[in-house]
Amino acid sequence: MRDINYDEVLMNYAKEVMKNAYAPYSNFKVGAALLTNKGTVYTGCNVENSSYGATVCAERNAIFQAVANGEQEFVKIAICCSENRFPIPCGMCLQVMQEFNDEIEIILSDHTSIKKYKLEDFLPVHFKL
Ligand code: THU
Repeated sequence: MRDINYDEVLMNYAKEVMKNAYAPYSNFKVGAALLTNKGTVYTGCNVENSSYGATVCAERNAIFQAVANGEQEFVKIAICCSENRFPIPCGMCLQVMQEFNDEIEIILSDHTSIKKYKLEDFLPVHFKL
């Protein structure tokens, strides 16, 4: 018997929502699960479009779901993809995470193990208006 690993629980939400990704152009599915300070989990997957620039990443879809539901305080985000590698979030998603919490924890899975980062590991400086 072992203790519940809540990061793994969060990652399981990401793995589940990844199945719903709409990625017919890249065949690269991504799932993200965002934990808020209230303990709520919001999930998102990537949604592609034949006008490629209209595609939205999984991470931003999860964050936008949370904001639309009245939450803006985010603790951590778990991300996985349909390949056996750690999916580093793109710059646009990092910038969106930074908007709400520049110390958010980023948890990545390659389907074998989990790696934990801080936002500043990927985005040490950012654009500010
Ligand atoms: N993608 C994400 O969902 N998150 C990222 O951080 C990077 C890329 C998606 C967008 C697109 O549907 C596919 O991965 C290939 O770029």
